[in-house]
Amino acid sequence: MLIGIIGGGAWGSTLAQLLVDNGHRVIIYDINIKNVEKINNRQHPFFNVELPSSIEATTNLSAVTSKVTYLILAIPTRVMRPVLQQINALLTKKTYFIDVSKGLEPESGKRISQLVEEEIDPKYLAGYAVLTGPSHAEEVIKRKITLLTAASENEKLSKTIQEIFSNNTYMRVYTSFDVTGSEVGGAAKNAIAVVSGISTGYGMGENARAALITRGILEIARIVEYYGGNKETVFGLTGIGDLIVTASSEHSRNFRAGKRIGEGLSIDEIYAQEPQTIEGFRSIKALYHLAKKEGIYLPIICYAYEVIFNKMSISEALTNILSSELKEEKIE
Ligand SMILES: NC(=O)c1ccc[n+]([C@@H]2O[C@H](COP(=O)([O-])OP(=O)(O)OC[C@H]3O[C@@H](n4cnc5c(N)ncnc54)[C@H](O)[C@@H]3O)[C@@H](O)[C@H]2O)c1
Repeated sequence: MLIGIIGGGAWGSTLAQLLVDNGHRVIIYDINIKNVEKINNRQHPFFNVELPSSIEATTNLSAVTSKVTYLILAIPTRVMRPVLQQINALLTKKTYFIDVSKGLEPESGKRISQLVEEEIDPKYLAGYAVLTGPSHAEEVIKRKITLLTAASENEKLSKTIQEIFSNNTYMRVYTSFDVTGSEVGGAAKNAIAVVSGISTGYGMGENARAALITRGILEIARIVEYYGGNKETVFGLTGIGDLIVTASSEHSRNFRAGKRIGEGLSIDEIYAQEPQTIEGFRSIKALYHLAKKEGIYLPIICYAYEVIFNKMSISEALTNILSSELKEEKIE
């Protein structure tokens, strides 16, 4: 099958190799001509890896939308809505959308499934799924064993994605019906990964990091519940699984970015050094505003927002957290 990928960055180009390994052909659309040229010259745009020749890349979006019925969305969430609008203007046939990005729309806090519903004409929307879980592109590109979950309300679609992406050597995909829980878990864990990085960069010990991650999981569960997902989903690959892989790994851009905040760099200095997508900062912003508006109790994420965006010192944030009322540990 010919499959379209929107966004040929670290993750999109890596999934392209996986799909070719599984016997498919891939056409990638990316706005960045340098990435497109690299892919067409069989170079991965971010890793020192030779890509298969059956991956084609283009800066012409209609060259992709006209040829495929499965479109994988691998772009940063901040550009998701405008890109969906561009896609919608070009569609002439029913198309499946598979989101592999991890985040919420920064301004509205909306999930990618909501953006797809809002922007894609229902007569062209064949179905929607999210494919997510613990997955560093750095490892998948080296064909290291990875387990993901494909969530869709359309069981036939999640099973098709399971078939397309799974293989016997390094990729195993589970199915799920919980689109909301899977999407929100993937977005919220990036926020906690940034916090974990901040604690590491600031020189807090492993005790503090374990506590922040554990209390962070409870915040993820509250967020999933608010959006209407299943709390149980948080305990699977798309929640805790993804948090474990992200929250203490130098492979994770979110962890690394948080670490630099902990070491004293500002968000602007980090963006100047790191051209690639850092979804965690945007998730923290979206979730902070949600917490304030809807009264959801997210103290760790809210103090992370104050530190990153309002220049609160880390010591002040810690004093506030540690001096809050002492209470019973409740898992809720
Ligand atoms: N890197 C990983 O290991 C990984 C794993 C799983 C999920 N993800 C998620 O996948 C998404 C993409 O991450 P990434 O690591 O590939 O980021 P990246 O920054 O490496 O790549 C993003 C790509 O999108 C392209 N792009 C940006 N704006 C565009 C536009 N308007 N139109 C078309 N293309 C555009 C960029 O040129 C770039 O090639 C993120 O949401 C991330 O959380 C990443």
